[in-house]
Amino acid sequence: MNVVLLFLLNGIFACCSGNSAHEATPRLLLVSFDGFRADYLKTYNLPYLQDFIKDGVLVEHVNNAFITKTFPNHYSIVTGLYEETHGIVANTMFDAATKKRFSPFSDTDPFWWDEAVPIWVTNQLQENKTSAAAMWPGTDVHIQNIVPHFFMKYNSSVSFSKRVENIVTWLNSSDPPVTFAALYWEEPDASGHKYGPEDTKNMSNVLQEVDKLIGHLVKSLKVSKLWEEINVIITSDHGMAQCSQDRLIKLDDCIEPQAYTLIDTSPVAAILPRNETYVYDHLKNCSPNHMKVYRKEEIPERYHYHYNERIQPIILVADEGWTIVHNETLHRLGDHGYDNAFPSMHPFLAAHGPAFRKGYRLKTMNIVDIYPMMCHILGLTPQPNNGSLSNAKCLLADQWCIDVAEAIGIVIGVLMVLATLTCLMIIMKNRTPSLRPFSRLQLQEEDDDPLIG
Ligand SMILES: *[C@@H]1O[C@H](CO)[C@@H](O)[C@H](O)[C@H]1NC(C)=O
Ligand SMILES: *[C@@H]1O[C@H](CO)[C@@H](O)[C@H](O)[C@H]1NC(C)=O
Ligand SMILES: *[C@@H]1O[C@H](CO)[C@@H](O)[C@H](O)[C@H]1NC(C)=O
Ligand SMILES: *[C@@H]1O[C@H](CO)[C@@H](O)[C@H](O)[C@H]1NC(C)=O
Ligand SMILES: *[C@@H]1O[C@H](CO)[C@@H](O)[C@H](O)[C@H]1NC(C)=O
Ligand SMILES: *[C@@H]1O[C@H](CO)[C@@H](O)[C@H](O)[C@H]1NC(C)=O
Ligand SMILES: *[C@@H]1O[C@H](CO)[C@@H](O)[C@H](O)[C@H]1NC(C)=O
Ligand SMILES: [Zn+2]
Repeated sequence: MNVVLLFLLNGIFACCSGNSAHEATPRLLLVSFDGFRADYLKTYNLPYLQDFIKDGVLVEHVNNAFITKTFPNHYSIVTGLYEETHGIVANTMFDAATKKRFSPFSDTDPFWWDEAVPIWVTNQLQENKTSAAAMWPGTDVHIQNIVPHFFMKYNSSVSFSKRVENIVTWLNSSDPPVTFAALYWEEPDASGHKYGPEDTKNMSNVLQEVDKLIGHLVKSLKVSKLWEEINVIITSDHGMAQCSQDRLIKLDDCIEPQAYTLIDTSPVAAILPRNETYVYDHLKNCSPNHMKVYRKEEIPERYHYHYNERIQPIILVADEGWTIVHNETLHRLGDHGYDNAFPSMHPFLAAHGPAFRKGYRLKTMNIVDIYPMMCHILGLTPQPNNGSLSNAKCLLADQWCIDVAEAIGIVIGVLMVLATLTCLMIIMKNRTPSLRPFSRLQLQEEDDDPLIG
């Protein structure tokens, strides 16, 4: 009973306190640590990140988008769209109609990005709000003809502290006021590829470093008096799986390389065939136990990876931990890109600030749900998207939210109250004859009269 009442009060309190708490213009800083696999939080001791989570919220697993690669998922976070709709369908792409190529070293042609409108653009178009960005993928590109008011050209050599310094300066400037900012860092992805996630000794060192960077970020926000008012989301694009020299799929053993062009490589190979039937027939049985081969129209529905010209006619999807090559040896011990159903491919999400509840944990949410949540916090009208705010309600201080456990508690509580009342009524009814109520009531009324008068 008490528990149920507590839940109810909690909900009402969270609902009402949230509305009055932030009258100032809401602001949001979105941070990505590339390749931060969800279970690193359980495997490693990360005191600064745990501290951040303690007063905020944690989503243990984020169901990211297929393919689980960097550019596609960073764009899903800021658009709320699956890859087939936002158009960044891989880290390496080829457009047959224009013969254009996209790669991490050549990614600033707006052509690739203009199929969607990222949140920093919407933020600048609606009212007089300003965006800032330090190296988040796409933020140095003129998408829909707009770049963030403050941004840096991508350069992996620029240190994290330099990026944070810029972000803090921009957030601190009042003319114009920045309401949305995005920050990106390359680790622990780079080391995850190099060592593989099973090398816990080397990965532990890397994650201690990443944790210190989180500590540095929080300290910088505190020093500049931004910490209390700003909402901060820390998340990532994908996880990491262990690869091995013993798990290679050599395409050259099955088909001559002249028969097709390999647009994107492992673990999801994008194949542009000369003769589709020929190539498909030869690859179908290449490594049936360790790799799936799909014609574009056979790609499973759950991947939401079909309706885009940039998705090639045949894709090969390696099983977890397998690597597709022409004929080479293994070039990295960790990789990602695999089926987004594997927990190893999932990132996490943590958030802190006036818009978020304190001490709340959620098992999962979809990566496309982050965008409507961010729009809600900033008071922006979202673009059409594939996410839903309802999945994020429990994270937000201004939303009414009951989870399954609470709902069951409330139902049991109500049933108990009803049962108790029924029992009381039955007892009263049974006792009625012996009480002779009418005479007593009369007596009481007579007794009370002098007092009232
Ligand atoms: C935006 O800013 C301009 C110039 O500062 C101002 O004239 C205009 O009224 C502002 N618009 C809104 C919607 O606040
Ligand atoms: C990238 O940043 C490094 C370190 O700040 C700098 O030395 C280098 O000149 C920059 N490269 C480019 C192309 O701007
Ligand atoms: C870590 O990486 C280094 C070289 O990059 C390697 O020599 C070492 O064996 C790795 N593992 C551990 C546990 O240090
Ligand atoms: C923030 O701006 C104020 C003035 O607007 C300035 O005094 C202060 O030094 C700035 N702080 C940082 C960390 O840039
Ligand atoms: C494509 O390959 C199939 C099967 O190998 C073959 O029957 C067909 O004639 C080829 N088509 C062309 C246009 O070469
Ligand atoms: C791998 O393929 C390349 C290009 O087709 C070829 O030059 C090379 O000899 C091959 N290496 C092996 C080990 O088969
Ligand atoms: C995702 O959202 C876009 C924009 O609303 C829509 O066109 C598309 O059909 C949606 N995709 C799915 C799988 O619902
Ligand atoms: Zn990445």
